[in-house]
Amino acid sequence: MNPLKHVAIIMDGNGRWGLKHKNSRNAGHKAGLSTVEKIIKSSIKNKIKFLTLFAFSTENWKRPKKEINYLFSLLQSFLSDKITELNNQGIKLKIIGKKNFSKKLNKLLSSSENKTSSNTKIQINLALNYGSKIELINAFENVQKNKEKINEKNIVKYLLTKNIPDPEILIRTGNTKRLSNFLLWQLAYSEIFFVKKLWPDFNEKDFDYIIKKFKNIKRNFGKI
Ligand code: IPE
Ligand code: IPE
Ligand code: MG
Repeated sequence: MNPLKHVAIIMDGNGRWGLKHKNSRNAGHKAGLSTVEKIIKSSIKNKIKFLTLFAFSTENWKRPKKEINYLFSLLQSFLSDKITELNNQGIKLKIIGKKNFSKKLNKLLSSSENKTSSNTKIQINLALNYGSKIELINAFENVQKNKEKINEKNIVKYLLTKNIPDPEILIRTGNTKRLSNFLLWQLAYSEIFFVKKLWPDFNEKDFDYIIKKFKNIKRNFGKI
């Protein structure tokens, strides 16, 4: 049975779900938040130590302002309402990506990280304004600036995921098979599960099924 520490998820399909059910993309984002809560609970149950959720990419700034504003207002009210509860559950929150949102949201994100920083049950990495290419460029720049040798060890220590093991599993919902600039380095050897369901329809059963499947995969890492 394969050990499992880290699951990464591209939570895709909110917009389509919202349009289909409520004629509003934003309604899909709201519904997607309930799935986030379910999957956090399920991850704890499955003793997963790291859960990385792709919530907003560096490319998502190309969306209409109305949708972007809605997404961040959703995040803001979610964190204001739930951070105490998350903290009580032993969740450590870490933002990966550049915090260049409103002053109020930046502050809330930092305070949520600080408040939960000593928790050990599970670490949730929220990828927000995250892009893998810019992450890698910054890492290479740091290696160069410090006149270090370009090798795996030195690059990894400047990634936003330093000290976090690479994900064993990547899940992308929403019936789309691409990485969309997510964790390009860290996913080098991950088992990838593309799921047809839209994110708001994804549930604990789907998650458990993937974990079960993963446990029995023969992972070679180049060996035979
Ligand atoms: C993913 O769902 C969530 C974010 C990018 C914030 P989408 O909003 O991309 O949903 P679809 O793919 O348009 O249905
Ligand atoms: C990827 O989904 C980003 C997030 C889930 C946050 P997108 O819906 O933005 O990806 P593309 O643009 O279809 O590749
Ligand atoms: Mg999408």
